[in-house]
Amino acid sequence: MIPVAEPYFDENEFNNLLETIKTGWISSKGEFISRFEQAFAKYCNMKYSSSTSNGTTALHLALLAVGIKPGDEVIVPSLTFIAPVNTVRYCGAKPVFVDVNKDYWGIDPEKIKNKITKKTKAIIPVHLYGHPCDMESILEIAKKYNLYVIEDAAEAHGAEYKGKKVGSFGDISCFSFFGNKNIITGEGGMCLTNNEKFLEKINLFKNHGMSKKKRYWHEVVGYNYRMTNMQAAVGLAQLKKLDKFIEKKNQIANLYRHYLKDLINQGLITPHPKMPWAKNVIWLYSILINSKSRDEIMKKLAEKGIDTRPLFYPIHQMPPYKEKNKYPISEDISRRGISLPSSVKLKKEEIEYICNELRNIL
Ligand SMILES: Cc1ncc(COP(=O)(O)O)c(C=O)c1O
Repeated sequence: MIPVAEPYFDENEFNNLLETIKTGWISSKGEFISRFEQAFAKYCNMKYSSSTSNGTTALHLALLAVGIKPGDEVIVPSLTFIAPVNTVRYCGAKPVFVDVNKDYWGIDPEKIKNKITKKTKAIIPVHLYGHPCDMESILEIAKKYNLYVIEDAAEAHGAEYKGKKVGSFGDISCFSFFGNKNIITGEGGMCLTNNEKFLEKINLFKNHGMSKKKRYWHEVVGYNYRMTNMQAAVGLAQLKKLDKFIEKKNQIANLYRHYLKDLINQGLITPHPKMPWAKNVIWLYSILINSKSRDEIMKKLAEKGIDTRPLFYPIHQMPPYKEKNKYPISEDISRRGISLPSSVKLKKEEIEYICNELRNIL
């Protein structure tokens, strides 16, 4: 099988990891943690960072830090991985769905305003599949209605909106380093912010609510959401390669567009979005099938040794969040969407093979 995603390591991850074992610093203390945190904040041009056990816990901590509580409402896209929605629920608040924009699959600012009530406290834009959301419009709405913005950049490390890195727009931004992401630590996540008070709250909640001044004195009900030194050791080595990964991912996207040109021109498929204001990172190169059943195509590609993934299902269609309201763009994109192999290890000939097989099936 040509996999959808695959880790890429070299001797740097190995050496860093070995150092944690040799020195015995394997839990959530050790120098790799602060080195990784500082380097990642610098990469995104942000002041403060706090590493976490995964991207979901980063989002939960961000919501806790801005004070989301039962009775509050938080605006989320109806098309996303489920984590940002679940974390709103973890706080006892209500996720309020907004449909996505058909041209770039991110939350549609035009539709946010209709969903704002007196209870709305925050918006979580998700930079889906590595394409930035329209941050200028979102920040304008947030300012007007006095809402916090928590960016979910779990799939978009290094992507840019109008020349500025995603993760540098929100009050807090959150990243994931899960094994299929742009850079990886196994499980792992990060919160970034320019606000010292938010940083302190994140650090308090992630460490059992323990006082910074008095050990084993707990100020609030907290969690153990800490990253380990072993994860950070891998993360630091990965971060040094992020710009190379991005370059490779862009080459992959260009090759897909090139080999699929005839299918795109005939309207048989719609390519992965690319808005003029976006520097995409193409976490997973994804297309929409306009002519045939998506599931049938995935099955036939699998028979040819090509691994694919369906796009996320709309959250409002799944049992915990079922709603009668329709979110037509999310539903349509989800029904037609396929993610193709996008690993940085992918070879040109493999992309050509995948595109030829897709052409034969279509
Ligand atoms: C958009 C989005 N948000 C949040 C997460 C959660 O990250 P993690 O799997 O590290 O908890 C993911 C990834 O899986 C994601 O794709």
